[in-house]
Amino acid sequence: MVPLIGFGTYKLNGAQGVNTITQALNNGYRALDTAVNYENEGTVGQAIKRSSIPREQLFVSSKLPGRHHHYHEAIVTIQESLYRMQLDYLDLYLIHWPNPLEDNYVEAWQALIDAQKFGLVRSIGVSNFLPEHIDRLERETGVLPAINQIELHPYWSQSEQRKYNAEHKIVTQAWSPIGRANAVLSEPVIQKIAQKHSKTVGQIILRWEIQLGVSVIPKSSSQVRQLQNKALFDFELSTAEMDSITNLDKTDGRNKNQDPATYQEF
Ligand SMILES: NC(=O)c1ccc[n+]([C@@H]2O[C@H](COP(=O)([O-])OP(=O)(O)OC[C@H]3O[C@@H](n4cnc5c(N)ncnc54)[C@H](OP(=O)(O)O)[C@@H]3O)[C@@H](O)[C@H]2O)c1
Repeated sequence: MVPLIGFGTYKLNGAQGVNTITQALNNGYRALDTAVNYENEGTVGQAIKRSSIPREQLFVSSKLPGRHHHYHEAIVTIQESLYRMQLDYLDLYLIHWPNPLEDNYVEAWQALIDAQKFGLVRSIGVSNFLPEHIDRLERETGVLPAINQIELHPYWSQSEQRKYNAEHKIVTQAWSPIGRANAVLSEPVIQKIAQKHSKTVGQIILRWEIQLGVSVIPKSSSQVRQLQNKALFDFELSTAEMDSITNLDKTDGRNKNQDPATYQEF
């Protein structure tokens, strides 16, 4: 089961990163999201090692970068992730981006399927995959991802992709769930709802995502915001409030215009 709330670790590196992730674990986060390309798997592993939390209570995920989509490289990359984190297994491993122009993501998926069989990872999934990419995984391997981690926030609410994921029993997980603190934080519509519920704008946005059925992985270096971002279960948004946030969706709402059909990351 993918936890509803996890902790994003992008930009948390080195000793300061270890301290921030340790703080998040002390504040009750049990799911940690990292990636080979964040260059902080060692940082995440160090924070886990310092904590006294039993391994089985943690949910640790990482992601395969585009430069290692070929089968043998993918297997070795997963092993290297484990060595860097000093873990025996990962709870989840994702293909970070499909990189469809390179067109090696099916081969990468086969490696993840086998890594799961070898016991290196418990669950396997994808990130930034469009329906056409997932259809191909299913057609060519017969195995669907457990999860699709995608950009999702009030300016980019992803109704079509969410629908597709749900129809295929794939968990939708939001990256940049608070829009990486962009202009959405000063949206009057959300500010008004926040006032009404005596919550922060960040909490309203995360609660909106939870009520959409989406898992979230907010990142915060602040003690107060780490705690706020997981205090989401003592209030509920009405249908009208949900709709007013969903209506903030923009046709060009992506934060950095990273369209998985054309954008590639290595
Ligand atoms: N799969 C992918 O391609 C992909 C891409 C991007 C990110 N991710 C993952 O998703 C995670 C989360 O996304 P993200 O880090 O891009 O952005 P985010 O979590 O949406 O936003 C983080 C920013 O928001 C601020 N913040 C946190 N909580 C807040 C609150 N309650 N109110 C106001 N501001 C708040 C943080 O500042 P403070 O630290 O000062 O609180 C930080 O500047 C990443 O860390 C990474 O693990 C995956």
